[in-house]
Amino acid sequence: MKSLIIYGSQYGTAKAYATKLSEIMEIPCVSYECVKEIMNYEQIIYIGGLYAGGVKGLKNTFRLLKNTNVKTIIATVGLADVNNKENTDNIKASIAKQLEKDVLDNSLIFHLRGGIDYSKLNFKHKTMMKMLYHSLKNKPVENLTQEDKDLIETYNKKVDFVDYHSLNQIVEVIQ
Ligand SMILES: Cc1cc2nc3c(=O)[nH]c(=O)nc-3n(C[C@H](O)[C@H](O)[C@H](O)COP(=O)(O)O)c2cc1C
Repeated sequence: MKSLIIYGSQYGTAKAYATKLSEIMEIPCVSYECVKEIMNYEQIIYIGGLYAGGVKGLKNTFRLLKNTNVKTIIATVGLADVNNKENTDNIKASIAKQLEKDVLDNSLIFHLRGGIDYSKLNFKHKTMMKMLYHSLKNKPVENLTQEDKDLIETYNKKVDFVDYHSLNQIVEVIQ
């Protein structure tokens, strides 16, 4: 199958997963910003960082796939614990809003865990995280989700949850 790995990455964790998968599968990988034509491929594997629920670059890239039969695999990379079903259900619901129904129905979806280094964030992202942190800190603890608690716990720190073994589940479904 003619395949391509595309990544949408701001700080490198989604790119690192995409590069590793590219090495394992011997499939080329490229940033979404450099993709012009994807209709020539039979299978697209998209690995993108989560930003406020959205997958970086996904919507614009997959818009090109409307009414095609390209097989698509989507892997999100975020801070939230991917073993928590509430977290992964939320991510899936937000992906559904970013894609046409036919493209969504043709897609297999996976969740990988990334990392964050607050000292490396750009001004806009630092400000967004600061506002989010302060809004969460003002809520009663019993109203916080596990994702909220994780965000409070890791705020202003450097954490790295990248685990290349988690790519095995994707390796198994690539044709
Ligand atoms: C502004 C901002 C918003 C984020 N929103 C989410 C989110 O909604 N869900 C999540 O799990 N992680 C979220 N994260 C964490 C990133 O998804 C995580 O750092 C990921 O590893 C980034 O991928 P990248 O290094 O390839 O850019 C957010 C990070 C920033 C800076």
